[in-house]
Amino acid sequence: MVIIKSKAEIELMRKAGRVAGECLSEMMKLVKVGVTPNEINQACHEWTVSRGYTPAPLNYNGFPKSLCISVNDVVCHGIPDNREFQDGDIVNLDVTPIVEGFHGDTNATVFVGKVKPEAEKLVEATRISMWKGINQVKPGATLGDIGHAIQSYAEKQGYSVVLEYCGHGIGKGFHEDPMVSHVGKPGQGLKLRAGMTFTIEPMINLGQRFVWEDQKDGWTVRTRDKSLSAQFEHTVLVTETGVEVLTLREGEVPLA
Ligand code: MF3
Ligand code: CO
Ligand code: CO
Repeated sequence: MVIIKSKAEIELMRKAGRVAGECLSEMMKLVKVGVTPNEINQACHEWTVSRGYTPAPLNYNGFPKSLCISVNDVVCHGIPDNREFQDGDIVNLDVTPIVEGFHGDTNATVFVGKVKPEAEKLVEATRISMWKGINQVKPGATLGDIGHAIQSYAEKQGYSVVLEYCGHGIGKGFHEDPMVSHVGKPGQGLKLRAGMTFTIEPMINLGQRFVWEDQKDGWTVRTRDKSLSAQFEHTVLVTETGVEVLTLREGEVPLA
């Protein structure tokens, strides 16, 4: 059942989204050659709890850390470890603070040192594909419109879209209805209504779309062909007239 948020709930979602964006901004600044994911995890944990908030990933279905960190061919749900970031890595940081009972969920892919042009192009195309999806959001548009905008842009650039992991409704729950696919056909699927809050978080691969989940840790998702994968995520609100990006960061320019 898709939840339509009340005015009061929307105010709390605005606050959760703002906090999530601030947290992500601070963590993005820490990614450098020689730094480890565990150091970012500790910083994220402290940033969040010192302000009286809770990192939703920690102990979520047994996830052991306070954010996901997904490097290079890791598609999503990477578990922070002690491998130092290396020059040329692409690193996704995915944070989800719980603020006064409501979740804000956002991620971005950043560069370590100087990355290859093919990696830079993939990351930029992924960011643009997320914005193509966001810009479809308004009352009366459909989930298929969002998926189609993302898929058609990414595939036109020669990339592939991961099917197994989706955006999601969000609020008091981390993952609420509906599932928000990053592929689709215009006009198909659920019709959007004002007061819905959900994420848009495309995972785009340089090679084939196929992925596998590590059975040893139960979380890490990698590309089958070991090609690079990038992701960006925002939490959005459907307004009476269009969209409000709740996790927009200071200085981040929305793509028209
Ligand atoms: N933040 C992820 C998302 O965008 C979910 C991570 S679940 C976790 O939906 F348990 F791995 F943290
Ligand atoms: Co999410
Ligand atoms: Co997320």
